[in-house]
Amino acid sequence: MTKLRVAIIGAGPAGIYAADLLLKADRDFDVSIDLFERLPAPYGLVRYGVAPDHPRIKGIINALRDVIDCGEIRLFANVHYGEDLTMADLKRHYNAVIFSTGAVEDAGLDIPGIDLAGSYGAADFVSWYDGHPDVPRSWPLTAESVAVIGNGNVALDVARILAKQVDDLMSTEIPENVQHGLAASPVTDVHIFGRRGPMQVKFTPLELRELGEVPDTDLFVHEEDFELDPASQAAIDTNKQVLVISRIMGKWREREATGASRRIHLHFYAKPVEIVAAADGLSVGAFRYERMTPDGEGGVTGTGEIREIPVQAVYRAVGYLGSPLDEVPFDERRGVIPNFEGQVLTEHNEQMHGVYATGWIKRGPTGLIGHTKSDAMETVKHLITDQASWWSPAEPEEDAVTRMLSSRGIRYTTIDGWHELDAHELALGQASGRQRVKVVPRDEMVEISRGGGGGRAGEGV
Ligand SMILES: Cc1cc2nc3c(=O)[nH]c(=O)nc-3n(C[C@H](O)[C@H](O)[C@H](O)COP(=O)(O)OP(=O)(O)OC[C@H]3O[C@@H](n4cnc5c(N)ncnc54)[C@H](O)[C@@H]3O)c2cc1C
Ligand SMILES: NC(=O)c1ccc[n+]([C@@H]2O[C@H](COP(=O)([O-])OP(=O)(O)OC[C@H]3O[C@@H](n4cnc5c(N)ncnc54)[C@H](OP(=O)(O)O)[C@@H]3O)[C@@H](O)[C@H]2O)c1
Repeated sequence: MTKLRVAIIGAGPAGIYAADLLLKADRDFDVSIDLFERLPAPYGLVRYGVAPDHPRIKGIINALRDVIDCGEIRLFANVHYGEDLTMADLKRHYNAVIFSTGAVEDAGLDIPGIDLAGSYGAADFVSWYDGHPDVPRSWPLTAESVAVIGNGNVALDVARILAKQVDDLMSTEIPENVQHGLAASPVTDVHIFGRRGPMQVKFTPLELRELGEVPDTDLFVHEEDFELDPASQAAIDTNKQVLVISRIMGKWREREATGASRRIHLHFYAKPVEIVAAADGLSVGAFRYERMTPDGEGGVTGTGEIREIPVQAVYRAVGYLGSPLDEVPFDERRGVIPNFEGQVLTEHNEQMHGVYATGWIKRGPTGLIGHTKSDAMETVKHLITDQASWWSPAEPEEDAVTRMLSSRGIRYTTIDGWHELDAHELALGQASGRQRVKVVPRDEMVEISRGGGGGRAGEGV
């Protein structure tokens, strides 16, 4: 074989790092990579998850762009595996496929009232404020008091964006519809609930510290949550991250209210029990939780004491969940593709020939962008050495793929098309004194991408 043809499905960081590592790998054959992405823009959660007020992390896009711009990768965006592309297509055109489709859904929370109007998944809200093309343009920001359930970094993002005044977000890339939505928000109080104690949070120190720096916002913690049990004290003594977190919260315990126009309240040992309906019986009226107590081993146990806080909206930030893909094994419980170090496994625990996974769909929805690089390293190492299990495609020529997509009328966009859209968003930003303004509607993204690109964007359609 002269050339290894690889399809990568999902152009988030995991897929892009996998492409980069494949190109850089020590090998005695050529590689040709096609990167498929269901959205008209690459970069996955870096573009559509990382909070807009985190420009330094959004800046990772520059490194990812250098990879897809290297001239050795073809990008086919606006192409959905499972709708526009099947496993049979992949086997006809490639020797192997890497799935790097991430996780976009909210994990569920099985408590009464979770389906009331005003009860939301964090992933949907994040998609809205980050201008994801597949969510509604408007978000009902009508609540004065809001509950955010969860003690991970997504809960911090959601609480911070809800609490921030829109003027403090105007230097960011938030789209216009988000700007208007946030400007009209009457929110005064954001309550964050964790089911375990302050020393068992999944927040990272940098992000936690930022919560205490939201302008014109007071932050409250409650003394009853800081009677530390031996397990919490041991965590402080042995884990530097927990030590820093305890110091940050220690300073907050000494804070006085300043009369700021918005307030963030942190509640620990608060296990969700129910979202209580308002008088109309349809919408959120209160959040009910059970007071927990440390079990001495880092966990918690119920006290039976039920408490309630009136709120008009609840955001659950209890984790993301991967979605199943056509003709690919799936572990429903963990929301991942079952695999051994990236080699996809069948239901009989045998290696599925030619099929690999990387990133959140391989490992589950935890970990930072940097972790997807080590993931990709492991997966690519196997792919390269698994020559005996590669497919033998009937149509390996590169042109056969573009012919197939065009013959199906798929309005795919390419790297040149993405450059057009990128330049368009930067120009919109420049016109309003901002770095970038995102284009949100999918049709508009596709039109701009296909209108440019020197005729290469989805030719033949
Ligand atoms: C709200 C939020 C904020 C975060 N903030 C940070 C942060 O500040 N710093 C940090 O280091 N990490 C952060 N993370 C974690 C980081 O985003 C992830 O570690 C990383 O994005 C996972 O990469 P991935 O490529 O596996 O998945 P993703 O980034 O989700 O990329 C998957 C890609 O696959 C595409 N795809 C899905 N299905 C298909 C299909 N059927 N066909 C074609 N394409 C498909 C998706 O559209 C997407 O582009 C954050 C996560 C979230 C949820
Ligand atoms: N700025 C950043 O760096 C940034 C921003 C956003 C996300 N991320 C990363 O992205 C990943 C995903 O973040 P995430 O916040 O979605 O997940 P996470 O870190 O796993 O946090 C999930 C939180 O939800 C809680 N939870 C789960 N089920 C619950 C239930 N039934 N009832 C009450 N609480 C429940 C968990 O509590 P328990 O601990 O008790 O299980 C935990 O506090 C993380 O690795 C995160 O660091 C990073």
